Amino acid sequence: ATGSTPLGLYAELAKLCAEGKLSFAKCTTFNLDEYIGLDGTHDQSYRYFMNKNLFEKVDIRMEATHVPSGAVKSDEEAEQYDAEIKAAGGIDLQLLGIGNNGHIGFNEPDDHFSKGTHCVDLTESTIQANSRLFDSIDDVPRQAYTMGTQTIMYARMILVVANGEAKAQAVHDMCYGPVTPECPASILQLHTNCVVVADEAALSLCE
Ligand code: PGA
Repeated sequence: ATGSTPLGLYAELAKLCAEGKLSFAKCTTFNLDEYIGLDGTHDQSYRYFMNKNLFEKVDIRMEATHVPSGAVKSDEEAEQYDAEIKAAGGIDLQLLGIGNNGHIGFNEPDDHFSKGTHCVDLTESTIQANSRLFDSIDDVPRQAYTMGTQTIMYARMILVVANGEAKAQAVHDMCYGPVTPECPASILQLHTNCVVVADEAALSLCE
C-alpha cells in the first residue's frame, strides 16, 4: 500500500532491517495500484514512493518488487498482473489503507464489486484528497490501475491500517455497515483473516 498511512510502518520495517532483526531477501511484493500517466521516476508515482520509502531501505531484491506499470496505458498489461500474482503463489499478507470514501486500492464506490486488476477513473473525492501531494489539483492523474476487489480478497491475510478522524466514517462503515460496493472496504467483513489496526480518532464512530 502507498499513501500517508503506511509511512510509519515502512520506517519501522526499515529500522528493523537495518538492525538485522528482519530480512526481505526472500520476499516478493506486489503493490496495489499505480497512477496512469506517471513514469516510475515521477516523484508522485507509486513506484517512486515504494522505492524511496521501503525498497531502497531494506534488503529486498528490486526484481522481486512489482508495481502495476502506469507509464503507458495498457489494459492488457494490467490484466497480466493477476496472473503474475498467481504465478508467484498468491499474496500471503495484503497491507491496505482505506480512503475517506471507503476505497481500497483504487477500488472506488460503485454499484458493483470489481474483480481483477483494471483501469479506474478516480472519483472527485480521491482526486481532492490526493491533490495535497501535487503542485495543483490539475496535476493529479484522473485514472489509475488497481488490483481488483477480488484480487485483494484472494490474499490469505489482510491488514488494514487507518489513522485520523477523516477516516472515522469509512472505518465504521467497513466494520459495521452493510456489505456494499458503495463502501468497497465493507467486503472485508467477508474475509476470514482480516485485522484492522487504527488509532482512536479513526475508531471514534465505532462503539
Ligand atoms: P492515505 O490514503 O494513507 O494517504 O490516507 C489511503 C488510501 O487512500 O487508501
